[in-house]
Amino acid sequence: MAIKGLDTSAASAVRAAKPPHFKLENVIRPNILSLEPYRCARDDYQSGILLDANENSLGHALPANSSLPHNPPSSSAAAPPSANGTNGTAANGAQTIIPGAGDQDPLSLHRYPDPGLFGIRSAISNLRGVPNEAFTFLGVGSDEVLDLIQRVCCTPAKDKILICPPTYGMYSVCAAVNDLEVVKVPLVTKGGQFSLDVDGVNRAISADPAIKLVFICSPGNPTGTLIPPADVRPILDNPDYRGIVVVDEAYIDFAEEEKRMGKRPADQVVSAVSMVDEYQNLVVTQTLSKAFGLAAIRLGIAFAHPAIIQIMNNTKAPYNISAPTAHLASLALTAIGVETMRKNVQTLIRNRDALIADLERLEGTGAILGGNHANFVLVQMLDFETRSRPSNDVAQLVYTRMAEERGLVVRNRAKDLGCDGCLRITVGTEDENKRCIVLLRELLQNKGQWTQ
Ligand SMILES: Cc1ncc(COP(=O)(O)O)c(C=O)c1O
Repeated sequence: MAIKGLDTSAASAVRAAKPPHFKLENVIRPNILSLEPYRCARDDYQSGILLDANENSLGHALPANSSLPHNPPSSSAAAPPSANGTNGTAANGAQTIIPGAGDQDPLSLHRYPDPGLFGIRSAISNLRGVPNEAFTFLGVGSDEVLDLIQRVCCTPAKDKILICPPTYGMYSVCAAVNDLEVVKVPLVTKGGQFSLDVDGVNRAISADPAIKLVFICSPGNPTGTLIPPADVRPILDNPDYRGIVVVDEAYIDFAEEEKRMGKRPADQVVSAVSMVDEYQNLVVTQTLSKAFGLAAIRLGIAFAHPAIIQIMNNTKAPYNISAPTAHLASLALTAIGVETMRKNVQTLIRNRDALIADLERLEGTGAILGGNHANFVLVQMLDFETRSRPSNDVAQLVYTRMAEERGLVVRNRAKDLGCDGCLRITVGTEDENKRCIVLLRELLQNKGQWTQ
């Protein structure tokens, strides 16, 4: 069956891509393939007197000179109006950026946003080196993309997904929502390092045709380990597998930037996006939430062959990306935005290295597990008595005491497979990292007690 909305040249390019045994129509649910996508007049006409979409002709209802806080206070909630409530200055006194009302409204807040977002899609396509915007889908964070790919491919109560724990929790949450069984092929753990069990994954997908999606996280969360594209290839090429491989690259810019810093060979290929044009059974997800520091705007990306992208576009809610998000994303994708992102990532990598060195010097921490190719560190807490075994009790105690009594929040990953006793610490600013080390030193040296 033809894919609705896919032009004929894109369709023949898809057919020419590898692997020869793959046919997208066999993976996509029949109801999604036959779905008549929602169409609106705005798909055809975007300017003029717009009386097509039941928007509010009078404009938005934000108070005149409404402001956005430039530096929000520590709670991420929007700042309340300023005390005198008149000048559009946020309560914390920070400078503001102002979408005005009525004619002054540069974001056209009373209009539905552009459903196609070709500008942003083509900027991201250029940045990541895929042929054009037909290879790029935008979602509400990569979380929406990860859910959508399950919804279009997997029939509830029938199909399965495969994950490689320890890994990002949302693959299983989405599977539970979509009523899909989860097959697990754990990462291989050796000497505190993690790697993909390529043969194990291939055995599982060869044996079970109900597995429609394989999720590989690279660099992994919580492992911080890059899975080289060369390890993904044998799965893409597995002639028994008729499903899709999803590589989640939420943290890929940290690995990319290591090349510019001379920490890995400059010509090493780290991103699976390099294989998207070659393979029609590959989806790579990325996000502006991490390296770009724009978690609040919720912009995620899928790179894949145009047929898959077309299906995702046919299925998504019509205006999933808001105009403020699109505007901020387009600024982030300018040359200056990308340069700023790279500088920040380099700073975080230096902070990460310093944090690791400090953690290694502490009494009571064990191994630092995984690859450290992202903006977090996975570190073992040892038992207080012998200081020789990772301890989930110590991890839990440190986690709660630091959060509840000192206001410093890390993540307890001790129950994840292969992560006994582990806390996952996001790399912060230099000061935040120092504070974290001071608190950890105090708690660990004094067997869970504060000295002051
Ligand atoms: C591996 C991984 N994938 C995806 C996401 C979700 O990112 P987004 O903010 O784009 O939804 C996260 C968030 O922590 C993550 O760690």
